[in-house]
Order: sequence, then structure tokens, then C-alpha cells
Amino acid sequence: MLRINDKLNVTVPEDTDNPFLRGLFAPLGTEYDADTDSLTVIGKIPRDLNGMYVRNGHNQIHAPMGVYHPFDGDGMVHSIRFDDGKATYHNRLVKTVGYLAEKAAGGISLWPGMLEPHLGTRRGWGAMGAMKDNAGVDVVAHCGHLIVSMTQCGEPYKLSMDTLDTIGVEDWGRRLQPIGICSHYKTDNDTGEMMFFNFTETYPYMHYGVVDRNNNLAHYVPIELPGPRWPHDMGMTANYSILHDLPYHFDKEKLERGERKLEFFAEQPARFGVVPRYGDNSSIRWFETKPCFVLHLSNCFEDGDWVHMDGCIQKRPGKPSVGDQGEDAHERIRKHLDKHNTHTHMYRWSFNMKSGEVKEGSLDEEVSEFPVVANDFAGKPYTYSFNTLFKPGNWWMCGVKKLNVHTGTDQRFSYGDNRFGSECCVALRQGATSEDDGYILTFITDLNEMQSEVLILDARDLATGPVARIILPERIPNGAHACWVEADRLYGERVA
Ligand SMILES: [Fe+2]
Repeated sequence: MLRINDKLNVTVPEDTDNPFLRGLFAPLGTEYDADTDSLTVIGKIPRDLNGMYVRNGHNQIHAPMGVYHPFDGDGMVHSIRFDDGKATYHNRLVKTVGYLAEKAAGGISLWPGMLEPHLGTRRGWGAMGAMKDNAGVDVVAHCGHLIVSMTQCGEPYKLSMDTLDTIGVEDWGRRLQPIGICSHYKTDNDTGEMMFFNFTETYPYMHYGVVDRNNNLAHYVPIELPGPRWPHDMGMTANYSILHDLPYHFDKEKLERGERKLEFFAEQPARFGVVPRYGDNSSIRWFETKPCFVLHLSNCFEDGDWVHMDGCIQKRPGKPSVGDQGEDAHERIRKHLDKHNTHTHMYRWSFNMKSGEVKEGSLDEEVSEFPVVANDFAGKPYTYSFNTLFKPGNWWMCGVKKLNVHTGTDQRFSYGDNRFGSECCVALRQGATSEDDGYILTFITDLNEMQSEVLILDARDLATGPVARIILPERIPNGAHACWVEADRLYGERVA
């Protein structure tokens, strides 16, 4: 059965000339519920694929205030749930406080985006305290719910695992106000804990916390940084969390004058703080490395005295700021997001907890981002990172690469001309015996047919092509982050 849950009042003009609100990015105005009988399935859905693939993304509802950045849009979550060869699709807009206020105001934007916070006339959310909390970046399952959030820090919104309907702000999230939570919290399937961080423009500039397996805020401590920073991800191993102090941030003195322009301070080392899971500012150990910026990590793990952190490095991050540079704002955003401009590639940083020694170097030189591993291998030694490949000139996701981090060898699958994917997930099949014994999942938007689908690949052999494709009721826009929720984690952590 195909059911329409709601029709949204999209006021973004269909003929907009904004490249981040049309084509691949054009917002979707309908919320659907669809089961297998109403979905076209090409191939066969594996019966040993059980659980849910969920993706968040920006789906701007109202005509924006000022320059629109593609990370400003309202969060919309899409899910495909697999059960014994059947699939069910849902999509829902995250009903944030900001969205509801704009709806009540008659369908207009009340807050500016991340590039023009000075346009704001009312208090907002995030590290800048100015923009709307769109809850459109990350999505993770914890304690039987989905938690969505935005990068600039905001409230952790709790969604129903069954329908994706917004339940509200997590109870523990209210204790983090007004800072909130930054996207890229990490869950440990072995313990049921979730680690997170946030950041602010004022001292101490960062906090770190742990939510336990029973959904209680078990730990929340300040972490002192030298100034305001703009971190994006954190690492997790069995015993440690790894926090980031990177030389790509607002200039402290300019910020005091109200100027917010991200700059790369090429002479300033990157610092990574390795902290025991329940440690604090007194027990964190900082390691300095070559200057860089890091968006996303693939995995971290321990090996004796060493803590290893793998992820995608940017040695020369770009400038997304708008203002007086005399270039079209959209063109600057496009250049900044182009992973080929920043030559983003896989890298390993290694920290010796005994001697303080640091090692670093590339794992792979090819441009890639959004690296993911199987959930059950997060924080542990691993072999395969599944990374997204990008079409040069844009940040459109054109394929997936399976990188062996030990040998540097790889497999890959291209989505095809004018077909662009989402962040992948590794869905281990039930009874899996290795970290690639399962499936790679992604949502594809096909600009040739102007339709979208779920793509299922064999994780052991990407090159054999799709195991199955499931055509969705309507084209969906480009997305942000995604997660895989195993069938036995849908309604609570494995560890009671
Ligand atoms: Fe991210």
C-alpha cells in the first residue's frame, strides 16, 4: 500500500536559480509510507538482510533568508526497512521547533543560514546561536529511537523507529541547553553507550559526554580548547574517545568584532585529544600533528600502546565564507564542497599513549569521503573502509569504493551517468562471519529518470553490480548522513 502521510507547504520557488535548491537538491514536498507491494523491486531483496537503512538530508521547505548553503535546509529523514525479503519505505520532515514556528508564521523563513548569521533578528540555535536548528545532518539509532541533529550543534531530536515521526527533543538533550549536541555521535554496539561532543564560541569551547545503554546522560564534562573551533567528527575506540582541535576555525579577534569567516591557519598544528571514555579535561591527552582539517573518520582502534585514527584528511581546506571576495556565493560554496579541490583522501594518525610518539600518513591518495565501516567493527581493528567517490567539480556522490586499509587495494562500483548516491552503510547479513559479509546500501537519485531508488550491493564484491534496486514513490534530494540499524537494535540496545 502506498499512503501519503502529509503534503508540506513548500514555498521554495520551483524556478529558483539557486543550484542548491533545484535539480539534485530540489526539495520533496510529500511524506510517504510504502510497502513492498507498492514499490517496484528490480532483482530480489535478500532474506538475510534484516534491519533498517536511514538517511538524513536537507530538504528546504521555505524560500531562504539570505544566501542559502546546502547544509541549511530542514531535515528530512528517509528509511527503508528490510524484513525477510520485504521492504517498507517512509520519509518524514523533522518537525523542529524552528520549522513549526515558520509554519505558524505562514510559511516563511524566520532564521538565516550558516553563512549569514548577522541577518538573524531572533535567537536561534547552534554554536553561533543564530541559525535554525534544522536537525538535517546526522542520524543514529540509540536505545530504540533515531536521533537526528545538525553540525553546528543543536537539540538532539528523537524520531520514531517505526514511522520516523518526530517525538521531540531527547530528555537528556534538554540538559545540554543551550549548546546542544554536534552531529557525529558514536555508538558502541558492545556496551550500548553513545559518545558525543559539542562546541561553542565561548570558553571552554567544547564539552564531551556519554549517554548510557539505558538512555541516561551518564557523563558530561567541559573540555578546554585554546579558542573557538569548528570540529565536525570524533573518534571512538573500546576505551577512548578522540576529540578534534583543528586549525580551521574563526579568527578569535575577528569573532570578537562579530566577523565569522572560517580560515585555515596553516602554521598551527592540528591537535587530537585522546580521552578515556569517562575521562575529562584533566585526563585528556593531546597529540599534535601536521596542520589539516578533518570532516569524517572511518574508524579508530587500539593496538597495544597505540591508538589509531583513520579518516579523510583535508590538507588545505577551502573558504566557504561569503562577503567581499567578489565571487558568486554559490560558486564559492561549490568550490568549497568539491572534494577534489581539497584533495580529501584517506589518512591514518597514530598516537602512542606511553611514549607520546605520533605517526601519520596516507592510506590512499584517491579523493574520497564519507568513509564507513560495519557497526560491529566500529572502534576495533578492521580491514575495509567503504568510501564515497565524488564527481569532480561538485560534491555529487558518484560511486562507492571498498578500500583495504592494510594493502591499499580496492573494489568500486559507479552509480552511472547522472545517478548520484548517499552516504553508504554496511549492513551485515544475519549470521555474518566477516566485516564484509553483507550488503552496501545507498539511496540513489537518478537525474535521467528524475526518480530515486534504494541500491543494494554485495559488500564482498561490489563490481558484480546491484543485488536489487527498489524504486521509491518520488525522487528524493541529495542527502547528508545515514546509518544502519540492525534488526536486533531497532527497539533497544543489545546490552540490557
Ligand atoms: Fe558530517
